Amino acid sequence: MTLGFPDGFRWGTATAAYQIEGSTTADGRGPSIWDTFTTRSGVATGDPACDHYRRYRDDVRLLSELGVPYYRFSVAWSRVMPDGRTVEPRGLAFYDRLVDTLLEHGITPMVTLYHWDLPEALQAKGGWPNRELADHFADYALTVHKALGDRVRQWTTINEPFCAAFIGYGNGDHAPGIQDEGAALVAGHNLLLAHGKAAQALRSNGGEQEVSIVLNFAPVLTDVDDAVHREAARKFDFLHNRFFLDPLLGRGYPPELLADLAHLGTLEPAIADGDLEIIAQPLDVLGVNYYAPARAVPLEDPEADSNCPLPGLRGMDVQPPRGELTSLGWEQRPECFTELLLWLQEHCGGLPLVIAENGAAFEDEVVEGRVHDEKRVRYFAHHLAAVHAAIERGADVRGYMAWSLLDNFEWAMGYTQRFGLVHVDFETQKRVLKDSALFYADVVARNGL
Ligand code: FCB
Repeated sequence: MTLGFPDGFRWGTATAAYQIEGSTTADGRGPSIWDTFTTRSGVATGDPACDHYRRYRDDVRLLSELGVPYYRFSVAWSRVMPDGRTVEPRGLAFYDRLVDTLLEHGITPMVTLYHWDLPEALQAKGGWPNRELADHFADYALTVHKALGDRVRQWTTINEPFCAAFIGYGNGDHAPGIQDEGAALVAGHNLLLAHGKAAQALRSNGGEQEVSIVLNFAPVLTDVDDAVHREAARKFDFLHNRFFLDPLLGRGYPPELLADLAHLGTLEPAIADGDLEIIAQPLDVLGVNYYAPARAVPLEDPEADSNCPLPGLRGMDVQPPRGELTSLGWEQRPECFTELLLWLQEHCGGLPLVIAENGAAFEDEVVEGRVHDEKRVRYFAHHLAAVHAAIERGADVRGYMAWSLLDNFEWAMGYTQRFGLVHVDFETQKRVLKDSALFYADVVARNGL
C-alpha cells in the first residue's frame, strides 16, 4: 500500500552552516560564538566539520543524484559580516555561488538566516539579551536578501529561538555558555523581536517571497491524569511550545506563562511598547522541527532540585525518556508527531506548516562500502507515516526536510552523533550514501511511502 503525499509536496534535506562548512577563518570570516565556545570548552570545533565550504559543488551533486528537490541551508552571519555589521563580499559570494549551483542542478534553495552562530563581536556587546541585536539582525537579513532575493523565495529568519535563548543563555550547554535564567528569557524575547524586524526588512526589499520562522516543539506527556500533573505539563508546554508561538501569532505571551516566570522579574520589563506588534508579522508558513516528546511531573517540594532544563520553571521536574531511544537518548514517538501537527493546525488557525527538521542519530558503520542503517530507515518510515496521518486528518503540511543531509558537527556533542542520510568520514571527508538515503530518495521519487 502506498501512502501518497499531496501534489507539489516539498521534499528536502536540511543542514546548518556551522555544522557543515568548516573553513572558519577563510575569506575574512569572523569568529562566531560557536568558535569561541568550542575552543574554550575543549570539545571538537566546527573545523573542518564536513569541509562543505570547499566541497559544496560535490555536495550539491550528491543532492541532485538523490533527486531531492529542496535544500534548506543556513547562512553564517559572521561570514557575511565578520563583525556583525560590516559586509565581507567574499563571504556573501560563497552563498551566491551555492545558490547558483543548486539552481543549476534543479534544486530549490531555502535560506535560514540564523542557525545559532552569532558573530562573537555581537556577543561582546552582550549577545541576545541586548535588544540592539534585533536591529543588527534586520540589517543583516536585508543584506543577504539584496544578494540572493532574486533567486531565493523561501526565507526563514531564525532556527529554534528556544535553543538559542534557553540553552545558550539559560543552562549554558550551548554557546555562548551563559547560565542566567533571567537573561535567557530576555534573549528569547529579543530573538522574537529580531525575527519581526527581519521579516519587515525582507518584505521591504520587494519580490515574491515566503517568510517563516522555525520552532522546535516537544509534546508533553504525563503519567497521571490529575490536577498537579496536568499543571506540571501545562507549565512545561507553555514555556517550551508557546513562549515563541503565541507572540508570533499575535496573541502575546500567555498570561499563565508570564505568571510562571514573574519571579525572575526580567521578561515583562523587556517587552517595550510596540514590540508585540513587530513580532506578530504575518507568517507565510511555520517551520516545525520535531524530534521527541518530553515527560513532565510535579515536584512535591517546589524548592527541591529539578532536572528541568527550562529557565524559570518551578515546582516541576522532567523524567527520563522511555522505550526505544536514539543514540542521543531521545525517545521515539511518531504518534506524538501526528498529534502535534493536528494541534498546530488548530492553534495556528490554519497557517501552512512545513516540517523543517526531523531525523535521528544512530551509531552507523561503513561495512564494505555500505551503511545498513535500518534503525534510521524505520525512524523515517514511522515519522513520515505520522506526517501522512496528520495530513489525512486535515493538517496543511506542505513539505518535509529530513535532518540531515550529512553527518555533521552536532553542537555540544561534537562529532559523536550521526544524523546524516549520507555518512561522512571526518578524517578523509569521504561521503557514503546510507540505506536511509536510498529509502528517502525512493519516497521522494514516488511522492509516497
Ligand atoms: C536541532 C537543530 C539542528 C540539529 C538537530 C539534531 O535542534 O536545529 O541543528 O542539531 O537538532
